[in-house]
Amino acid sequence: QRKKIMNQKIKIYQSVVTGIGASLPKKIVTNKDLTKIVDTTEEWIVERTGIEERRIASDNETTSSLGTEAAKIALQNAQLKNTDIDLIILATATPDNTFPASATVIQSSLGIDKCYAYDMQAVCSGFVFALEAADNAIKAGNVKNALVIGSETFSRILDWDDRGTCVLFGDGAGAVVLSSTEGSERGILSNHLHSDGRYGDLLYVDGGPSTSTNVGYLRMDGQGVFKHAVKNISSVIEEALDYNDLKVEDIDWFVPHQANIRILESVAKKVGLSEDKIIVTVQKHANTSAASIPLALFDAVQEGKIKKGDLVLLEAMGGGFSWGSTLIRW
Ligand code: ACO
Repeated sequence: QRKKIMNQKIKIYQSVVTGIGASLPKKIVTNKDLTKIVDTTEEWIVERTGIEERRIASDNETTSSLGTEAAKIALQNAQLKNTDIDLIILATATPDNTFPASATVIQSSLGIDKCYAYDMQAVCSGFVFALEAADNAIKAGNVKNALVIGSETFSRILDWDDRGTCVLFGDGAGAVVLSSTEGSERGILSNHLHSDGRYGDLLYVDGGPSTSTNVGYLRMDGQGVFKHAVKNISSVIEEALDYNDLKVEDIDWFVPHQANIRILESVAKKVGLSEDKIIVTVQKHANTSAASIPLALFDAVQEGKIKKGDLVLLEAMGGGFSWGSTLIRW
């Protein structure tokens, strides 16, 4: 029996990105538009955050409808039929309803009845947490094709009277298809995830089903978040580089969670990153939480920046705190 087990050929599956898609609400809200709602200026927002405009969902656009559109484009891009999908993970902190999981709403909209689907809640880090879960399912041999979606409608949990937060966020969705590919050099090379619940009160929503029974609003200590973001993002980049025995120069593209241009610049300085290798979309999307990385990836691929074979490092940090990285040979 022992000999039989030892002689078994071990299959190594890699999770290769085979498709990518994105979807944004139609309505663009500029900084100038916000000056009519709260006591702010265009200059303050651009100088402190790098944000120029954001998309805001209309009443008939939801987390699941945006996620479905992004998923359809990713599936077309992967040249797969909807029914080829075995797993859907939706990273979101703004589901349509408390339950059922919005991932199952997307599953139904896509006409898939055989896969399994669930929501991943790690706020702005949700997309890298979801990639790790899908990668593990593929590496275990349980899943052939997975849809990993980040979709958010943060506009619904913003306090539009709080100028310290409402100017920072936007709505949108992005999606990738991960396909199991035996023995490939491409695919996800590493995942590193972290959480530290001691800092929950620096960034949170002041409501929920089991506390207030209402949805609540986002609350944040901006400076506190800023300091932890720079520290945690820098350390998770270094962790990924060390683990993969790489130097910062070996990475072709950094695709960070898009919260604030000043966080990205501070991280770049701290770890010695060349700024022309960082994909930046915060100016046009603002912070779209779990959707920001796939939205940025989509742009970078469309613009011909990220190409097959490139080393791409994703990183994110968000409420919890939670933070993490994914290294991909594209
Ligand atoms: N317009 C004009 N003035 C404003 C605005 C606004 N929209 N918001 C705050 N101010 C004022 C404050 O009231 C304060 O005024 P005061 O000096 O008279 O008291 C002044 O601007 C400075 O406020 P600070 O909070 O100290 O401003 P800071 O330079 O820290 O910038 C910001 C605030 C942009 C929120 C910054 O702290 C930040 O980016 N933090 C990171 C937060 C973040 O990105 N969170 C996203 C989620 S976490 C993540 O995704 C990583």
